[in-house]
Amino acid sequence: MADQRDSAGPEAIDSAHYRSVLGHFATGITIVTAMGNDGPVGFTCQSFSALSLEPPLIWIAPATSSSTWPLIAEVGSFTVNVLGAEQEPLARAFAKSGADKFAGVGYDLGVSGAPRLHGTLAQIDCTLSSAIAAGDHFSVVGAVVGLASAHGAPLLYFRGGFGEFSY
Ligand SMILES: Cc1cc2nc3c(=O)[nH]c(=O)nc-3n(C[C@H](O)[C@H](O)[C@H](O)COP(=O)(O)O)c2cc1C
Repeated sequence: MADQRDSAGPEAIDSAHYRSVLGHFATGITIVTAMGNDGPVGFTCQSFSALSLEPPLIWIAPATSSSTWPLIAEVGSFTVNVLGAEQEPLARAFAKSGADKFAGVGYDLGVSGAPRLHGTLAQIDCTLSSAIAAGDHFSVVGAVVGLASAHGAPLLYFRGGFGEFSY
């Protein structure tokens, strides 16, 4: 039986409540990268999902406040890098606006021309298919043009904290 203590009408949904409840959905963590016109750019992104198999599409949700997303949208191609268990420092570094995020970070360029970060679990190269404003985020669909993966454990995010997967 589900715990009903947090159920409430729409009038009770404030930001803290929304974050708290939605935080119960455990996810992996990604860094979305692109080769911007002035060099590599990227940001940490939890809001990522597979979307369509035929044709292969993925979905991400960049905040309208992101200073990196417009640089990615400008070039129209990006890579979603899925982080491994040891890459929490990378997740934190790419979440800092204005920082030199690529200092000391190794990468190769993927099929879309965007950085595939070394040591990441999977890389999904995309071209930008659509971006629609949705509240304080954009609902972005990427057409998958390249794929790669490696063995390893994932970095997870649950209720505001990083963790590791175990069976
Ligand atoms: C665990 C975690 C998950 C995040 N998920 C997202 C996300 O899904 N979408 C988003 O726009 N920002 C997300 N962020 C915040 C961005 O990484 C951060 O606002 C951004 O990197 C700021 O830099 P920018 O101004 O260069 O974009 C997340 C941050 C962390 C630490």
